[in-house]
Amino acid sequence: MIALAGVAKRWPGGGEAGAASAGLSAVDLRVGAGEFVCLCGPSGCGKTTLLNLIAGLEFPTEGEVLVGGQRVRGPGPDRTVMFQESALFPWLSVAANVAFPLEVAGVGGGERAARVERYLRMVHLWGFRDRQPHTLSGGMRQRVALARALVAEPQILLMDEPFAALDAQTRDVLHAELERVWLETKKTVIFVTHNVREAARLGDRVVIMGTRPGRIKRVLDSKLARPRAINHRDVTEVASAIEDELKIEIEKVIRDEGDSAWSPSGRPVSAGADGGLGDGI
Ligand SMILES: Nc1ncnc2c1ncn2[C@@H]1O[C@H](COP(=O)(O)OP(=O)(O)OP(=O)(O)O)[C@@H](O)[C@H]1O
Ligand SMILES: [Mg+2]
Repeated sequence: MIALAGVAKRWPGGGEAGAASAGLSAVDLRVGAGEFVCLCGPSGCGKTTLLNLIAGLEFPTEGEVLVGGQRVRGPGPDRTVMFQESALFPWLSVAANVAFPLEVAGVGGGERAARVERYLRMVHLWGFRDRQPHTLSGGMRQRVALARALVAEPQILLMDEPFAALDAQTRDVLHAELERVWLETKKTVIFVTHNVREAARLGDRVVIMGTRPGRIKRVLDSKLARPRAINHRDVTEVASAIEDELKIEIEKVIRDEGDSAWSPSGRPVSAGADGGLGDGI
């Protein structure tokens, strides 16, 4: 369904001392139709860049990005992106927000109304269709954004930390909702997250990315039974395997960002001989 082969992305003059900045390097990835893949990695490793390349919002400097066997030449109706912020139009009602992509695509009348109803019911917000976004909670707004992402019925859903700004309980509810929607609609999902538990909870596979340059470090299978619970022992086990891989990369980022003395174990924070609590910080 999605294939990246030898993909590199650089921006001219974006790096240190005017050198080209490397967003991604030598990325090979294949995602099958209907698969749920999570992307995890330290800040700046190129997760958003990778999504943008698949979305057709950016183009590779080297290699190729194929969707359904065709080279990606720009955005298309087969792919939608959902961001961390719901980016709803504040002046439109919930229903009008969800209807918007259909309006742009020229889907009219009865078909448009039926699809808006179907997807608002799917995220349990049909009863809120006449509300303005600012009268909803953050979690509800992300559910409206999910309905809006689904309404044009793309085969591929690209999600960039869509639940990162939500509290843990709301996130739990949305995980269950997204899992149910995915099982029902058989979409191909690529889901970016910093949260290792979220990655283990949702993904069939978890792609762990490294940095400098951004690349794929390891791919872990997370083919646990569904529906899953975030606190299940198996989910916790996969999450700690992801965390172990990520720790090394995150330490590298912190050191590269200028603190060469920084070490993860550090020196213990303790009371020294003179009794000064915090010696060694
Ligand atoms: N338009 C651009 N011009 C120059 N450099 C860019 C551009 N977009 C991204 N980059 C660089 O590419 C690298 C990867 O950025 P990207 O936003 O993909 O990281 P990320 O993994 O999504 O990070 P985060 O977890 O913080 O969202 C960064 O070093 C960034 O500075
Ligand atoms: Mg990002």
